[in-house]
Amino acid sequence: MSSFEDKVREALANPQNQGEIPDADAVGTVGSPECGDMLRMWLKFTEKDGKRVIDRASFQAFGCQTAIAVASMATELLKGKTAEEAQNLSARELAGDLGALPPMKIHCGQLVEGALRNALDNSAAAQPSSAMAPTLAADLNRQPTGKIRIVPLD
Ligand code: FES
Repeated sequence: MSSFEDKVREALANPQNQGEIPDADAVGTVGSPECGDMLRMWLKFTEKDGKRVIDRASFQAFGCQTAIAVASMATELLKGKTAEEAQNLSARELAGDLGALPPMKIHCGQLVEGALRNALDNSAAAQPSSAMAPTLAADLNRQPTGKIRIVPLD
């Protein structure tokens, strides 16, 4: 059985869904005060069988490898889920095949969960994605102190 590190390495060898979805319906951005890492997630919805489901999810991360690996897993897992189903996913579930994160890495999964919830909140508020900063780099430039307080950064 492969170790957690092996699974992270495997996920990082071929990370899925990186980069902006230009016509996204929702975007969420969070930062961790513990480590200063940031993660942004984009969601694009579609109609399927009379339900509004996530068609595509993507992410951009200024973060550790675990956060990137979890975000890669999570954005795959979100496809086909309704906003409500996505809202109910725990950080542990979002980590998918990576399994339970080691104690020191739990906040990395929470960063992904936070970005998803932030995006879903923005989606519920029908906030146009064009009103938000297009890249994490822009946000980083806006907040050069590194004193990032938790969650919504947009
Ligand atoms: Fe900060 Fe992983 S160490 S998100």
